Amino acid sequence: DASDIEKGTYPHYMLKEIDEQPFVMRRIIQKYQDENGQLTIDPQIIQEVLNADRLYIIACGTSYHAGLVGKQLIEKWAKIPVEVHVASEFSYNMPLLSEKPLFIYISQSGETADSRAVLVQTNKLGYKAITITNVPGSTLSREADYTLLLHAGPEIAVASTKAYTAQIAVLAILAVTTAKAKGIELDFDLVKELAITANVMEMLCDAKEEMEKIAREYLAATRNCFFIGRAVDYYVCLEGALKLKEISYIQAEGFAGGELKHGTIALIEDGTPVIALATQEHVNLNIRGNVKEVVARGANPCIISMRGLETDEDRFVIPAVHPMLTPLVSVVPLQLIAYYAALHRGCDVDKPRNLAKSVTVE
Ligand code: G6P
Repeated sequence: DASDIEKGTYPHYMLKEIDEQPFVMRRIIQKYQDENGQLTIDPQIIQEVLNADRLYIIACGTSYHAGLVGKQLIEKWAKIPVEVHVASEFSYNMPLLSEKPLFIYISQSGETADSRAVLVQTNKLGYKAITITNVPGSTLSREADYTLLLHAGPEIAVASTKAYTAQIAVLAILAVTTAKAKGIELDFDLVKELAITANVMEMLCDAKEEMEKIAREYLAATRNCFFIGRAVDYYVCLEGALKLKEISYIQAEGFAGGELKHGTIALIEDGTPVIALATQEHVNLNIRGNVKEVVARGANPCIISMRGLETDEDRFVIPAVHPMLTPLVSVVPLQLIAYYAALHRGCDVDKPRNLAKSVTVE
C-alpha cells in the first residue's frame, strides 16, 4: 500500500525517521537562514520574547522533554527565565505567573488536546503565544499568535524521534537570535555548530550494528532499565527511557544521577541495566561516581560518553559537539537502542499498544 512505498526500503517508519535526523538538521539551518547566511526568526516573535519577563513552555510527552532542553538553551544563552510544564497539569493547577509571561507551546502534531486546553486559557487571559510545531495550519498553530515550524517532514511512527531533535534545534535558534537581539555576545556560530551536530548524527546513524548489540546484550531479557545522567544529560535520559517504554514495554526510568541513591537505587539488582550518559564535563566525575554506586549494587552499566570525557569503561563514545547541543546527538543512540530492543522482543515498533500518535482528548 501507499505507506509501504513511503517507507522505502526501511522495515519501519521509526528507523527511517531516526535516519532522517541529519537531513532535518540541515533543512532547519537553511529554513532559518537569511540571505546573508545569518540565523533569523520573525522579528515580531523576537520582540514578544524581549517583552516577556519569563517564558512558559507547555507541552506533553517527547515535546515536553525537548522543552526541558530548550529551557537550558534559552536561560544560558538568552538569559531569560523559563519554566517548563506538562500541559495536563498546568491546565488544572496553574502556577503563579510572572507579570509579563509569554507562552511557548511545543507540539509535533499541533493537535494535542492537553496543550490546546492550556492555550485556550492563556488566550482568554490575553497572553501572547508561540506554537512550535511540525504541522502548518494545525489547531495549536492557528490558535496561537505566532508559529515556528519544525520542517521535519511527516512523522508517522508513534514514537517521536526526528520531531524531538527538530524542536531542540528550533529552540536553539530562538535562544541564539534572542541573545543577539539583546546584544549578548556568544562565542560560537550556531550555524557551524548545528552543521557539526548533523554530521555527528550521521555517524551515529551508521552505528546501528553497535546499538543493536547493546540492545541485545542489555535489554533482550530484562524486566527494567534505568537511564542516569546529570545536567542536560538528565533530560535526554527522560527521553531515552520514554522511547524504551513506548515501544519495548520494558519498565524504564530516567533519573538525575545524584537522585537515584535517594530511593530508587533500592530497585537495582544483579544485572539491572543502567545506561549512563556522560557528555557534560562539569559533572563527568559526578556521574561516574553514580555509576560506581549502582555497580556496587550489581548493576550492569552501559556508559555512553562524549569524546574528550571518555574512559576505558565506556561502551560507546560519541564524537564531540558543542556542549550545549549534546542532546541532539546523545539521543540518537538511545532511540536506536530502544528500536532494537523492541525488535528483539517482537514488539510492533511503529504502532505500540495503547498509544496514539496524537492524543486529541484531554
Ligand atoms: C502522544 C504521542 C507522543 C507525543 C505526545 C505529544 O502521546 O504518543 O509521542 O510526544 O503525544 O504530542 P505532540 O504532537 O503534542 O508533540
